[in-house]
Amino acid sequence: MRDRIILVEAFEILDSRGNPTLRTKVTLENGISGTVSVPSGASTGENEALELRDGDKKFFGGKGVLKAVENVNKEIAPEILGMTPDRQVDIDRMMIELDGTSNKSNLGSNAILGVSMATAVTAAKSHNLPLFQYLGGVGGFRLPMPMMNIINGGEHAENNIDLQEFMIVPQGAPTFKEALRYGAQTFHALKKLLLKNGLLTGIGDEGGFAPNFKTYEEVFEILIEAIQVAGFIPGADISIAIDAAASSFYKDGSYNFSRSGLGVKNSSEMIQFYKSLVKKFPIISIEDPLDENDWAGFENITKEMGQDIQIVGDDLFVTNTEFVKKGVQKNAANAVLIKLNQIGTVTETVATIHLCQKSGWNYIISHRSGETEDTFIADFSVAMAGGQIKTGSVSRGERTAKYNRLLEIEKELGKSAIF
Ligand code: PGA
Ligand code: ZN
Repeated sequence: MRDRIILVEAFEILDSRGNPTLRTKVTLENGISGTVSVPSGASTGENEALELRDGDKKFFGGKGVLKAVENVNKEIAPEILGMTPDRQVDIDRMMIELDGTSNKSNLGSNAILGVSMATAVTAAKSHNLPLFQYLGGVGGFRLPMPMMNIINGGEHAENNIDLQEFMIVPQGAPTFKEALRYGAQTFHALKKLLLKNGLLTGIGDEGGFAPNFKTYEEVFEILIEAIQVAGFIPGADISIAIDAAASSFYKDGSYNFSRSGLGVKNSSEMIQFYKSLVKKFPIISIEDPLDENDWAGFENITKEMGQDIQIVGDDLFVTNTEFVKKGVQKNAANAVLIKLNQIGTVTETVATIHLCQKSGWNYIISHRSGETEDTFIADFSVAMAGGQIKTGSVSRGERTAKYNRLLEIEKELGKSAIF
């Protein structure tokens, strides 16, 4: 019985924005241990599980997580000592019960998620399996299509773009490794084009370039040119996906393009705006095109565009089965963005994915804009065989850490890898 948990501990580390987050470690009696770090979003959905912050302005501007650390060490740890780490569902359920709220506001989703993920990592090690295989079993062989966010805007940059993410999707690539090469070559071509046009090449939170643009057409035109200069065919080798994160510019009942100065739109004008872009450019996926409370708008856009492209709910669904069920009933999208920390446990995240699979919906495993060098989601995306991952640009170590882990998994799987 040397595979029992004898220690659960967390401490404060920094995320990629220089804000505190938790690093959490689960240790077994036999010395095996698993360590993870918890990510943090900027454009968060209002129904996400609560990320517990200390609020003391003198420490990290109120963003400290010492209370969440203490909750791991003093509240959660005693409850799970003596259990084996492969009891993931029981451990997650116990933490949910111990918290006792619907949004994990007592212990904090950051406290709970760290323990949940570290439990899985420790269990995988104790079974001598790579994490993707422990979580995915015999089905865990599919490498995800990367959606690489090479132009950043919205709350992830200080530029004049209201829409948050402009991603390239190397659909025509035969392997994950090749997909990443398509993306990296396009990223470099884009940098040269930006410089040639006198635009800045500083990057945003997710490693994409973050210059100012005059119009949204200009953003897509330069992306298309970069794809071509890199030697690829837009729409065949590489397509485009966007995350508008529209809740972040929805104010007083309308969509306010205040950064770009391009005016104010209502819900149906927004849909027309997207339609005209999709007509002109090879856009295959739009995430959070409308505000998280604009369910009618989501139904309309899915009716009008859902046959042709992927309509993804992120803030709309917050990785929560309750909201995804409502979405399926209402036909309010056709895909779900999956973020472990929006719901707070591995078990609940997997349940949301199962609901997507049952409903015939796509799902995309996603990082947060505040990340660490942790690579859990790389293994998780292979284990869930979902086919898509969003983990930023091909710059910034916390983004490439995930891509590099996927390269490693693809190499390990050899001929068994499916892409
Ligand atoms: P966030 O952004 O992590 O800041 O929420 C990611 C996204 O909106 O997809
Ligand atoms: Zn999003």
